[in-house]
This record gives sequence, C-alpha cells and structure tokens, in this order.
Amino acid sequence: MNAVGRLFRVGITGTSRGPGVGAWIEGCPPGVCIDLHALQQALDRRRGGKLGTTSRVEPDTPELLSGVHHGFTTGQPLLIWLRNRDARCDGQEPQRLPRPGHADLVAQQRYGGFADPRGGGAFSGRLTAALVAAGAVARAMLPSIDIQAQVLSVGGRPDIDAAVADAVAQGDSLGGLLECRIQGVPAGWGEPLLDPIDARLAQLCMSIPGVRSFELGAGLGLAEMRGSQANDPILSAQGLTGSNHAGGVNGGLSNGNPLVFRVATRPTPSIPRPQPTVDLHSGAPAVVCSTGRHDACFALRLPVVLEAAAAIVLADFMLLARAYRPLP
Ligand SMILES: Cc1cc2nc3c(=O)[nH]c(=O)nc-3n(C[C@H](O)[C@H](O)[C@H](O)COP(=O)(O)O)c2cc1C
Repeated sequence: MNAVGRLFRVGITGTSRGPGVGAWIEGCPPGVCIDLHALQQALDRRRGGKLGTTSRVEPDTPELLSGVHHGFTTGQPLLIWLRNRDARCDGQEPQRLPRPGHADLVAQQRYGGFADPRGGGAFSGRLTAALVAAGAVARAMLPSIDIQAQVLSVGGRPDIDAAVADAVAQGDSLGGLLECRIQGVPAGWGEPLLDPIDARLAQLCMSIPGVRSFELGAGLGLAEMRGSQANDPILSAQGLTGSNHAGGVNGGLSNGNPLVFRVATRPTPSIPRPQPTVDLHSGAPAVVCSTGRHDACFALRLPVVLEAAAAIVLADFMLLARAYRPLP
C-alpha cells in the first residue's frame, strides 16, 4: 500500500507530467484550522527557480477538494490536489532508453509497461509537493511542536552557493546533507522494538525520492565513541540531558529532548551528459543525455519536505499517544 500512518493516514498520488499530484489524508480530527496562507508558504518553499534547481516553476495552488469547511477540518478525509501547470514533454523515451540512476527500467518490470513514464511518472520528486501539503495539515495538528530543517552541505562543501555554481557550470549534479531539529515532542512517543519513533521517521524520510541515508543524533559518529563520551548525562527528573548524542530517542521512545536527525541525498541522476544505457527495443548498448529541466541539486528543495515528513509521523504518534493513555 502506498500510504503511511495508523491513525493519521496519508496517501499520495499523481505523476510528474500528468494532470497533477494529490494527497489523501484520513484521521485528522475535526476542528483543525487549515491556514491556506501557511499551506501556500510551505509549498512555495519547495518551489524551484533558483540556481541549482529546476526552471520548472509550478504555482502549486492547493485545491482543497474535501474535508475542510469554512477553514476547519470536518473530520472527513481530506483531499488536496495540486495541478501540474508547467509540465512539458522533453522528448525522452524512457520506455526505450531507461535513464541510469532512475526508476525507468524497474518501473517497466514492476508495472509491465503500464506506468506513466513521463518525467519519472510516479517516481518523480514532483510528488513531494503533495507530501508537503499533507505535512502542512499535520503541522496544524501540532501547534506546540517546532520543526526546522536546513541544508548543511552540498557535494561535501559547506559553501553551498559556490559548490552549486561550480557543479552547474560543469554540467553536473550534487547530493547534499540536511539536518532536521524538532523541539517540543513530549517524552514517551513510540514503542520498543517494532514501532520506534526513529524508525518511523527514517521510513518516511527514506521514502523521499533520492534520500539515501538517515542518521539519528550522533549517528555514525557513535561507532567511534566510547560509552563514556556517548551517554547523554541526565540533568533533571523530566529527562533533560546535557548532550544529545541520542537525538532525542531512547529505546524507540522520544525522551523529551529535541529530536535531531540528518539525511543525505544522492546527486540528481539527470545530468546533461551522455550516460550509458541499453536500447530496450534492440538490446544494443546506447547513450542517453538529459536535456530537460532538472534540479542540479534537489537537496536545496528538501528542507520543507523533511519537515513535512517529520510532521506526518509525529501527528500519527500524537494521536496514538492520545488513544493509548493509561486507564484512569
Ligand atoms: C524535490 C525533489 C526534486 C527532484 N528533482 C529531480 C530532478 O530534477 N531530476 C532528477 O533526475 N531527479 C530529481 N529528483 C530525484 C529523483 O526523483 C530520484 O532520484 C529518482 O526518482 C530515482 O529514485 P531514487 O533516487 O530514490 O532511486 C528529485 C527528488 C526530489 C525529492
């Protein structure tokens, strides 16, 4: 099933060059104020147009087709639709010449040639616009939780603008490293072993096209530390810690300290350079070159997408925490 969540359930649909992309959201309680301005602002943060991002600029005007009345959720499922207004065909034939680094070939194998191949179809980063829309609804349910993500480096360099300019000038692409910090999550969200909060965050972050790693707190660095360095000293009975190597999670449960995680993205697979592939009609070696509009570094557009992913996961855990309180 292409959906996430238990009590706050989100499904995403649409394609890059089809009529649009959309989010279907079930489990949002009635009476949540949906601020259209905040929703549009979130979508605007994901938009391309700057150096290193695609020149495809979608207005992303959200259409709230159901579940909202007079600015408040009704308790019925929400349907949010974002029309594709700036989609163009770039003349590529991914059914014949699958692009290296893309899902073109595996999609043909999986869907028997019926999947929409245009611009990556349902595998496109375009679908993250719908994720951002669903994230805005989740955020409206979590007014006391602050979620902020930022790009730390691209292509291993902290001088982001210069690194992007170099890659663009060289007709190449870059990956990036991002960090997300979340304040205000109470202690105790999550379950041990089979439903840890960090695993749910990792699952949705890793679902974002092109995301390749998820690291909680000190993450990989912990493998090089000793226990005496790694353990976060407990400073209060509420669980405040002196350091946060754990990234705000112990035993799969939020511990009341900030949740901190990092993700890394791969470099954009479409690059304006010849790439070896196979002609699926003849079976002969062939070459494919991306001439369309692409993000040289899609990590630049990702902070708001990560924030949305985190909000969706947290909204689900918030509802679960409400449902599974100890009996009075
Ligand atoms: C917001 C966003 C924008 C993206 N833009 C592009 C793009 O312009 N060109 C491209 O080749 N890949 C882009 N990607 C990455 C591809 O969607 C992704 O690498 C591809 O579908 C294969 O999936 P995988 O990398 O997860 O295997 C983007 C991803 C995201 C999240």
